[in-house]
Amino acid sequence: MALAASGALTAPAIAQTPLQWSDDKVKAIARHGPWPPPLSRDPSNRVAGSPNAIVLGEHLFNEPRLSADGAMSCATCHIAARDWGDGRAKAMGRSELDRRTPSLWNVGHAHWFGWDGAGDSLWAQSIRPILDPREMASDAARVAGLLREDKALACGYERAFGEKPGGGDEKLLVDAAKALAAFQATLISPRTPFDAFRDALLSGDREAAARYPLAAQRGLKIFIEANCAACHFGPRFTNGEFGDVGIPFFTRPGEVDAGRLDGLAKLANSTFNLLGRYNDDVSGASALRTKHVQRLHSNFGEFRVPSLRQTGSGPFMHNGHLATLEDVVKHYSEVNPDRLHSDAIPLVRPLALSAEQSADLVAFLRTLSAEPPPRHAPPPLCP
Ligand code: HEC
Ligand code: HEC
Repeated sequence: MALAASGALTAPAIAQTPLQWSDDKVKAIARHGPWPPPLSRDPSNRVAGSPNAIVLGEHLFNEPRLSADGAMSCATCHIAARDWGDGRAKAMGRSELDRRTPSLWNVGHAHWFGWDGAGDSLWAQSIRPILDPREMASDAARVAGLLREDKALACGYERAFGEKPGGGDEKLLVDAAKALAAFQATLISPRTPFDAFRDALLSGDREAAARYPLAAQRGLKIFIEANCAACHFGPRFTNGEFGDVGIPFFTRPGEVDAGRLDGLAKLANSTFNLLGRYNDDVSGASALRTKHVQRLHSNFGEFRVPSLRQTGSGPFMHNGHLATLEDVVKHYSEVNPDRLHSDAIPLVRPLALSAEQSADLVAFLRTLSAEPPPRHAPPPLCP
């Protein structure tokens, strides 16, 4: 594919003028905003958006007593100062896991969770690490006991749910996860230089648009022409679905991570999926996606399309296979379509970028991140 070189725009020291953008490209850019987008409340979670549940959720997120040995919390792997990931290629629980800890930025906008989509709600996904023997290795009785017996948590629960922590252990485990979900939905990544450019371009503010570095503008053009948005679509730069871009998926000799194919089997077998009794949405509408999703052989080797906002400094991909953004761009530049695992129609083909084009694409990708505002400790559970 001919990625049009963007003309003689590399001259330094001259006041920048933005590149010329065709109407089609302006439309393509517009689709990646506005930021932040409005957040719709999760109907499957009766405490979604509740300020008291958000406070309880943040306390639980940092609570090591949820784990079997009292040593691991959600925040052990999802570290705020590391864009809610851990900077490791593969997560470290009680032993090393097969996948990387994903960022939790903007997770409230997702509809499938985990690299394989084994979760169909933010709260169901929050139960997984609590029970996984390689992670927090806990159980419903321990979590329920903590909510009933710890005075501060019991009080926080009552404020969030409007009743004392009662009912069975499993129900209380789900409620803890729903508070965790309410908290995580508040993690919205900051506005970025790209957002300022997009808005300036749409409003015709040439001066503001010209502040966006030319290298990033050229990289953005490549991003559009290479059709990266076929998967990295919309304001979050992800369509929320699954794809195969040819990342090796052997976990150890002779064993593969089948990705979405296994994720769909796990989803169907989960007590906590949206078709189950813990879905608070009586209309049933929120369960339609789960009800109708089909498990196809082409799901083999597919992983969730990650958001490109606030990706942090790497490593990248579901198993941390690529260390830097430069490596990611090199991968897309040289990808061998015969290596794709999925038998779906390939959407990626080698871009054969020049060194300058690669640097420009990296420069653009970096403008999808910005310094997040400092975080403060959550308010007390029961002031
Ligand atoms: C040992 C490290 C570790 C701990 C502890 C941990 N996580 Fe994770 N988290 C991961 C990994 C790895 C994944 C990817 C899982 C997968 O794809 O199967 C993940 C995925 C997620 C996702 C899905 C994100 C997405 O983009 O789809 C959410 C939400 C999440 N974790 C929340 C939590 C919560 C809440 C806790 C505490 C109850 C927690 N995690 C504890 C490592 C961890
Ligand atoms: C077929 C859909 C698809 C297309 C087209 C596509 N991607 Fe991706 N992208 C993915 C998937 C799926 C992953 C994760 C793959 C994995 O973990 O195995 C990913 C991962 C990434 C990552 C790493 C993010 C992270 O947090 O790990 C970056 C950066 C990226 N893509 C940029 C691009 C760029 C730039 C283009 C265009 C040249 C592009 N992608 C085209 C589906 C796609």
